[in-house]
Amino acid sequence: MGELKIITKHIGEKDTHTFKHYQAVGGYEAAKKALTSMTGDQIIDEVKKSGLRGRGGAGFPTGMKWGFIDKKNPKPKYLVCNADEGEPGTFKDRVILEQLPHMMIEGMIIAAKAIDAHKAFIYIRGEYTLSIERVQSALDECYTNGILGKNVLATGYELDIAVYQGAGAYICGEETALINSLEGRRGHPRLKPPFPAVSGLYGYPTVVNNVETFSAVPHIINNGAEWYAKIGTPKSTGTRLFSVSGPVKRPGVYEIELGTPLMTLINELCGGMQDGKKLRGIIPGGSSVPILTAEECQTANMDFESMVEHKTMLGSGAVIVLAEDTDIVESTYRLAEFYAHESCGQCTPCREGTHWVANLLHKIKEGHGTKKDLDLILSLSVNMEGGTTICPLADACVGAVRPAIQKYRAEFEARLTDSETKKHVA
Ligand SMILES: Cc1cc2nc3c(=O)[nH]c(=O)nc-3n(C[C@H](O)[C@H](O)[C@H](O)COP(=O)(O)O)c2cc1C
Repeated sequence: MGELKIITKHIGEKDTHTFKHYQAVGGYEAAKKALTSMTGDQIIDEVKKSGLRGRGGAGFPTGMKWGFIDKKNPKPKYLVCNADEGEPGTFKDRVILEQLPHMMIEGMIIAAKAIDAHKAFIYIRGEYTLSIERVQSALDECYTNGILGKNVLATGYELDIAVYQGAGAYICGEETALINSLEGRRGHPRLKPPFPAVSGLYGYPTVVNNVETFSAVPHIINNGAEWYAKIGTPKSTGTRLFSVSGPVKRPGVYEIELGTPLMTLINELCGGMQDGKKLRGIIPGGSSVPILTAEECQTANMDFESMVEHKTMLGSGAVIVLAEDTDIVESTYRLAEFYAHESCGQCTPCREGTHWVANLLHKIKEGHGTKKDLDLILSLSVNMEGGTTICPLADACVGAVRPAIQKYRAEFEARLTDSETKKHVA
């Protein structure tokens, strides 16, 4: 267990983003194999057997998602790549978009064939200007070289892929808000059911997958599902890219085998903590997931099962490290403020709840809060979670705030006007 470069194997070489480089290292062989010698159902079976789970957040099994599309339905089917990457701390898709756009496009070609889609979109966050440039130029190269268009890889399959630029809203990463945004509407999440597989883009069957999910697919088709399933743990197969930020010696994006101990990632790959600082805690999967204390980090592995055991998630693949000198009250407030700012406002528990939580945390952080305020946050959080809203943005706010208060309560209490700790310190 540790670093294993499958997707990122060639990063560091010259011009990995170009068609020339990708073709030289065996690029588009998997798409050719899928298009010439596999049926859509065979591709879906292979991806199911590989155990691949979505890399966008929820970890939903990819083959199963593709299998929900009714191929006998005569309506057009759409494929969408979610490259919105707006979760605080997350920057792992960016590496693929900027440096390996052809791998993601190849995965999309294979997925399109699997669900019988002939039109696909890549929804990229507007701030990712280099990603947009690189993906667009990779698509242009594909059209010039017969990889996309009316006769994909000379197989007679037709597929067009277009880039769509987001406008900076975190909520547009939620797949149904993304679909609304693609249609030119406000980026508001839709009620589910119906799920996108039944009624997605323009009301037609649609599959939405993350950038990294698509990028794993060519490797599965080239090397086989069994090969992939042997990597990682039985329920968390393959590798995953993690973007590590915070006071470690070498922050950055690392591709590791799933199941690798969290502290191997921090100590061996990231070189440990900067300036000999002590670890305070780690948010292991993007700002929406519960924080792990330094003690919990010692037993946590980077796989779906271990994260569930530790009551947290791998989420969006962002590992945010906090050191002994991190002000947990300040960092928790900032996350709450983010969710309050990004709430789309459709559902009352989210629209009101996120602002209440942020305002109360601000009061506490500034030294004007009381014990009642702290308890009010915890009681509000119960009304914000567990299906009271159309999408899980309010749950995400709760995931960021409540465990932080529960695990580091003394730090919050020390800021309260009626706190014993504060009186004692004063
Ligand atoms: C508020 C919110 C923001 C999200 N942002 C992203 C995102 O930026 N990128 C992404 O791939 N998935 C994001 N997701 C998850 C998507 O809704 C969806 O589950 C994912 O794109 C499916 O792809 P996967 O199965 O390949 O993981 C977000 C979900 C929520 C609730």
